[in-house]
Amino acid sequence: MTYNFDEPAQRRGTDCFKYDAMRMARGRDDLIPLWIADMDFKLPASILDPLHDMVDRAAFGYTFPSDRYFAAVQGWFANRFSWETKKRWIVRTPGVVFAVALALQTYTRPGDAVLIQQPVYYPFAKLIARNGRALVNNELVYEHGSYRIDFADFERQIVEHDVKLFILCSPHNPVGRVWTEGELARMGEICRAHDVLVVADEIHADFVYSGHTHRVFASVDEDFARHCLVCTAPSKTFNLAGLQGSNIFIPDPDLRKAYVDALGRLGDLSVNMMAMAATTAAYETGGPWVDELVNYLAGNVDAVRAGLARVPGVDLVEPEGTYLMWLDCTGLAERLGDTPLDTFMVNDARLWMNAGTKFGGARGGNFERMNIATQRDTVEKALGQLATAVARGA
Ligand SMILES: Cc1ncc(COP(=O)(O)O)c(C=O)c1O
Repeated sequence: MTYNFDEPAQRRGTDCFKYDAMRMARGRDDLIPLWIADMDFKLPASILDPLHDMVDRAAFGYTFPSDRYFAAVQGWFANRFSWETKKRWIVRTPGVVFAVALALQTYTRPGDAVLIQQPVYYPFAKLIARNGRALVNNELVYEHGSYRIDFADFERQIVEHDVKLFILCSPHNPVGRVWTEGELARMGEICRAHDVLVVADEIHADFVYSGHTHRVFASVDEDFARHCLVCTAPSKTFNLAGLQGSNIFIPDPDLRKAYVDALGRLGDLSVNMMAMAATTAAYETGGPWVDELVNYLAGNVDAVRAGLARVPGVDLVEPEGTYLMWLDCTGLAERLGDTPLDTFMVNDARLWMNAGTKFGGARGGNFERMNIATQRDTVEKALGQLATAVARGA
């Protein structure tokens, strides 16, 4: 191991949501926070040094994205995902949520139907509602401890509701699926047959556990590439969410023009120069760090599995990717009766996770989402607190 992931980054007292919003959000200070999707690890010097240099130069004026920036972004996707791209496909936006919202506004009209697969990253539903579009759900099927797509329902929903746009979460947050090429192809073919635009949110693409492979949706079929946007960012992979930089690949020139025009109507977006520097350095030099990070996270998954063996009524939905664990607490929730699961997690186990209800779908009340992108001892402590609370009270 070259990097020390057991050493935490200083986060408390930095106005970060994860730690510093605890009193505001939960009314107390004594919880282990395992909720919002960012990480507690220190970045390597190869990414930090260019940022230090920038501060030392003491000038933060208007900046443009350099050729080197685009080459770094393209290089990452070519090397790690065997996906060859063109520089002109890349449109920069200040975040993937922003990018999805702009896609809804650009390619659909008020009242149009938009498909998602719940339980799923909850801002999708929020954006659909805020923009006055109609949410259509192809609920993922939970069977034998894992999730699969009901393709017949996928097509039926599209046809019945005349769906215009599908937000694909790949890998899927929170159920942890890394969609296979076959699954992506089936979804893509159905969308193509019914003229549905695919907005593929691939922000978690770099977190894939052994035995699984992430396929970029646009790389599955040339025709899919012409009917999709691929939303990417270094923000999950390198914990750069606070710098607000993302790269949206839009291979089709007409789709791209519509999107760039919509961006232009918002003003002339300058770029965040820190995001430029960090992204360039991360994509040029960060591969070995990410490889070790994913190994470390796999160890954390093992720790969760081992810890849950002592917690009756809580099972891990085995993750294929992402650092967000989806805990099936059905047995525990049944024993709790009227007490909501999340209330038990906070009041009894002293854990701040994301309540499953937020992600939509039929059975959310039985689930919690746990972020394990933190030090191993914190994960173990959290599991210990859960085991004790369950043994004591439920
Ligand atoms: C699936 C997914 N998309 C997007 C985001 C956030 O992206 P951004 O911070 O670039 O808006 C997250 C963060 O958790 C996510 O899980």
